[in-house]
Amino acid sequence: MSIFGADYYPEHWDTDKWPEHVRLMKQFGIEWVRIGEFAWAIVEPDEGKYDFSLLDKAIELLKKNGIKIILGTPTATPPIWLVNKYPEILPVDKYGRVRNFGSRRHYCFSSKVYRQYSQKIVEEYAKRYGQVVDAWQIDNEFGCHDTSFCYCENCRKKFIEWLKTKYKTVEELNYRWGNRFWSQMLRNWDDFVFPINTPTFENPHMLLDYMRFCTDNIVEYQNMQLENIRKYSSAPITHNFMGDFFDIDYKKLAKNLDFVSWDNYMGMDHYRAAANHDLMRSLKKKPFLVIEQQSGRVNWLASNEQYSKGYIELWIKQAYLHGSMGSLLFRFDQIGWGAEQYLGAMLDYAGRPTHRCEDFKRAKETIHDQIDPVKEVAIYFDYENVWIHRINHINQSFRYWNSLLEIYKAVRKLGYNVDFVFEDDDIGDYQLLIVPYASKLGGFTQKIKYFSKPVIMTCMSGIKNDYNWLCEEMPNDLTDCFGLEVLDFGGNETSEIFFDGEKFVGRHWCDRVAVREAEVLAVFTSGPFIGEAAVCKKGEKYYIASVFDERFFAKMLTNFLKPRFASDDIEICRTKSGFKVLNLKNSFNDFWIANKKIVLNPFEVRDI
Ligand code: GLA
Ligand code: ZN
Repeated sequence: MSIFGADYYPEHWDTDKWPEHVRLMKQFGIEWVRIGEFAWAIVEPDEGKYDFSLLDKAIELLKKNGIKIILGTPTATPPIWLVNKYPEILPVDKYGRVRNFGSRRHYCFSSKVYRQYSQKIVEEYAKRYGQVVDAWQIDNEFGCHDTSFCYCENCRKKFIEWLKTKYKTVEELNYRWGNRFWSQMLRNWDDFVFPINTPTFENPHMLLDYMRFCTDNIVEYQNMQLENIRKYSSAPITHNFMGDFFDIDYKKLAKNLDFVSWDNYMGMDHYRAAANHDLMRSLKKKPFLVIEQQSGRVNWLASNEQYSKGYIELWIKQAYLHGSMGSLLFRFDQIGWGAEQYLGAMLDYAGRPTHRCEDFKRAKETIHDQIDPVKEVAIYFDYENVWIHRINHINQSFRYWNSLLEIYKAVRKLGYNVDFVFEDDDIGDYQLLIVPYASKLGGFTQKIKYFSKPVIMTCMSGIKNDYNWLCEEMPNDLTDCFGLEVLDFGGNETSEIFFDGEKFVGRHWCDRVAVREAEVLAVFTSGPFIGEAAVCKKGEKYYIASVFDERFFAKMLTNFLKPRFASDDIEICRTKSGFKVLNLKNSFNDFWIANKKIVLNPFEVRDI
C-alpha cells in the first residue's frame, strides 16, 4: 500500500470552499487525506444528538473525486458537555493540579466514564463509515503535551489493582519497592498514594512500575477502540506516534495496530529524523507511514522558522529511503484562526497553492516502489531503559537517546542499515549487535550470550534488575561472556582514553573494570580509573567502559563494518537489489563508492 497526501480539516471551512480544495488536491497529486480526528463537538454537539451531515458531505465529495480517507476517531478532544457533566474525566498533573478544558488531550485514560463515552463515539464513527473509509487513526498522539501520566484518584485506584496483580501481597510490594528506605512501608494497598509534589527524590522502583502501568492503561484504552472499529470495519488501523518520544512503550502500543504511523517534525536534524524512521519501522519490522510530515513552519518552538524551497522533497524521500509507505503533509489547508494559526501548510491563508504543493508533487513523482532495507546492524532498544535512565541517574547530563544517536550516526555514515531490536526480536540475521547503555537486559541477556557474530556492549548495561535495583554482579549474568566484571563506576564528566593511536574523551560515566579473561584494547588515561581497562574484547564480545561520541564509534566500528562510502550528507540504504542513495543537500553532491565517483542532484534519490 502506498499512501501520499495531506491532513485536512473540512470542518474549518464553509462547504463552498471544499470543491476548490479538492480540485487543488487532485492537481498536486494528493491521493489520501486524514480527516476528522478533532471533530467530536461537530458530530455530537450535545450528548446523544448526532449530526454527521458535515462529515458525510466531506467524505462523499472526497470519495467521489477518488481521494482515499484515513478517518481519525475524535477522542483527543472531549467536548464541553461531557467535561461539564463529568469533570472527573479531567487528568491531574504531578503537582496535583487538574488539567482543564480549553485545548486538547484533557482526559484521563483510567476514567470509566470517559471510556464509555469514547466507546460510544468510536462505535458511531465505525458504524457509519466502517465500509466507506480506507483506514483509521485512533485518537491523536497519545501522551502529547505530557498526558501519558495522570495522578488522579481513578488512576490511583487502577494502579493499586495493577499492583495487586503483580505483587499479590503488600509485603512483597514493600520488599520490591525497598519501602524500608525513608519509612515508606505500606500497611495495606489503600495506603498507596502518588508522590505528588514531594520534597525530594521519589521511590525509583515505584516510578518504574507506574510508567509501566501508564503504558498498559493506554494500550488497554487503544484496544477498546480497536475492538469497536473492527466490529464494523476491515480497514487497517493505525495511531500517530511521535518522534523522540519515550513516555509510552511504543513497542507495546504498536502490537495490536495494523501499521505504525508517526508525525515527523524533526526539521533540519536529518539523522535524528532518520533514527526515528528506523525506530518506527523497527517496532513491527514493517513499513510505516509518516501520517503528519511538517510542511514548513511549526508553531510550538521558541522561534518558528520557515524553510526554503525543496525541503518537503527531502523529507518525503528520506522517509521513503527508510522504508515508509508514504507521507501525508501537515496540513493541506492553512487557517488564520485557532490555536495553530501560525502553523504552516501547503496552501496559504487565502487558499492559494504555495511552492510546498509543487515540492510535494515533485517528490511523489520520483517514488514508484517501497523499500525494504535488509537487516545489517542491530541496536538494542528498550523503552523501559529510557525510563530507568530518566528516573535516577548519577549524571544528569547523560541522555540515553542522544548518546545512542552518536552510535547510530556512526553506523549510518559507514553505509549500513540499522534496525532497533527489542527483547523478543529474532536477531539471527544481523551481522553486528550493539547494546548501548542498556541498564536492564532481562531476557535479552541470553540473546547476547548466544549471538554468533560480534557484539559491542557499553557501560551501564546489565546493571539493573526488573525492579530497578542495581545488581550485585555487573554486567549481570554476562561477566563470563565478556571476560570482565564492573566493580565500580562514577558519573565523571570526562575520562580520556587512547584507542588505535588517537585520543577520545569518555563522557558522563566511567566503569572500573576488573579484567578476568579479556584482552585490553585501551585504558583510561585520565579520570578516577586511570590506567585501568576502558575497551576490552573477549573473542567477538567487546565492552566499552564509558560513553563515547560518533568519532570514536566511526573508528571502532571499522573493525566490523568495511566503510561502503564516505559522506556526512548522503544517506544510503541497502536493499535486496542493491543500494539507494539520497542527497541530503539542496545542491550538487558527490561521493565515491566502489572506486566510482557519483554526482547527485540536489535532494536526489538514486539507485546505484
Ligand atoms: C501534532 C498534532 C497535530 C498538530 C501538529 C502541529 O503533530 O498531531 O494535530 O497539532 O502537532 O505541529
Ligand atoms: Zn487519571
